[in-house]
Amino acid sequence: MAIQTSPPGTFPTARRSRPPAANPPSQAAAPLPPAALPPTALPRERQLAAYRRALRSMPGGTDSNFRAWGEDTIYVDRGLGGRVWDLDGTEFIDLRMGYGPAILGHADQRVDDYVSERMRRGISFSLTSEDEISVAELICEMTFCDMARMTVSGTEATMHAIRIARGFTGRDRIVKFEGQYHGVHDYALISVLPTDVSHLGDRDEPVRLAWGRGIPEAIKETVIPAVYNDLDGLRRIFEREGEHIAAVIIEPILGNAQGILAQPGFLEGVRAMTREFGALLIFDEVKTGFRVAKGGAAELFGITPDLATYAKAMGNGYPAAAFGGRRDVMGMLPKHVSHGGTYAGNRVAAAAATRVLSIMRDTDALGTVARNGLAMQAGIGAVIERRGLPHVFTGVPQMFGIMFTEQLPADYRGWAATDHELYDDVARGMFLRGAMPEPDSREPWFVCEAHAEGDIIDRVITAFEGALDSALEARARG
Ligand SMILES: Cc1ncc(COP(=O)(O)O)c(C=O)c1O
Repeated sequence: MAIQTSPPGTFPTARRSRPPAANPPSQAAAPLPPAALPPTALPRERQLAAYRRALRSMPGGTDSNFRAWGEDTIYVDRGLGGRVWDLDGTEFIDLRMGYGPAILGHADQRVDDYVSERMRRGISFSLTSEDEISVAELICEMTFCDMARMTVSGTEATMHAIRIARGFTGRDRIVKFEGQYHGVHDYALISVLPTDVSHLGDRDEPVRLAWGRGIPEAIKETVIPAVYNDLDGLRRIFEREGEHIAAVIIEPILGNAQGILAQPGFLEGVRAMTREFGALLIFDEVKTGFRVAKGGAAELFGITPDLATYAKAMGNGYPAAAFGGRRDVMGMLPKHVSHGGTYAGNRVAAAAATRVLSIMRDTDALGTVARNGLAMQAGIGAVIERRGLPHVFTGVPQMFGIMFTEQLPADYRGWAATDHELYDDVARGMFLRGAMPEPDSREPWFVCEAHAEGDIIDRVITAFEGALDSALEARARG
């Protein structure tokens, strides 16, 4: 088994469905995740009724393109710890954890009790509460940030960080890496996650690939796609148009492409180059923040960016997000750059973040998350090895991917060369066996503290083993 080089201080180790295609052929074909659960394999009666009802009033029957899985769309009833139940009562071990937020586990009583006590004092005043000050203080204590502000979503956080970088530098252009997802504002939806990587253009001259219609040409022109782990390519971009580049925004771990890690020296190189050309470095830590280390990827890799964005794990599922960074850069607020939001810092989100971040700071929750991930990897690795299949774990145990490949990909294009169809078949098979990873190889498994409970890890491994055998048999039958 190949093991991806781990960043310093981690354990050795290992995506997201796309909006449905409403795109002209020149843009990213964006199919749904493979919706091929045998329709009768799991009880689906109530969910199908919910789907048909929802379709009448909600496009795709959901509130997010990422959840629109056609007739296989899952309608949830409840979650507890590391488990989730659909509307028909089927229990699954949850390996999606809401695309990452529920790091402690669903319906965590420590957080929920605190939030419900605080919310009785009222939620939204468009005035500032002490809860919000506590959140900013905790972020500044746990990360490199000198100052922070709350937003409601990761999308808002990256949008505001980009604007501040533009305001601070007086420049317009933003470099982003292919295969990285920074939310759903226009500046983020360039060269994200096409299934056919040829749409990204020549790797030495990547094209600006808009994800879906509605993104103005003028906005596209301000975003420069780059290839992850390719410092030479980044240097060519800076030498060509460095004086116009306000910032490089990067997911330090390619969290939306199976957690592919930066190669040694890459993040250091990006940091040095941004300094050399007077641009800012924005770490998008929406997935990695408070998950891969208490101080996020900045701490894990020992790199200090100028700005960072946080969401997901800071709220354990409550809609809490933030951006923060260097005092002089954040000092663009409130006078020089616009930022606001009726719900920014609302009591529910701020109370949740205060409690979650305190738990992260004061307990070994992240150690438990990492140990759970390592135990899953050990069991799954043994299962795959017994069948003699090449594979690598990508990412870190708290957030890992499984690739069936000899050669560890360095960037998003490399994912296409892995046997991701096999992974997708296994993931679907796991659903039938009571575990729910995202049925798309690009989304990592999200591990939570509550996965340590009972026999959850054993059940994940057993589900994986059964699903792998079934996928291999189906393949052998052709
Ligand atoms: C790295 C990253 N940035 C930004 C976002 C957008 O966050 P949100 O869905 O809260 O708008 C996501 C969501 O998955 C993400 O993974």
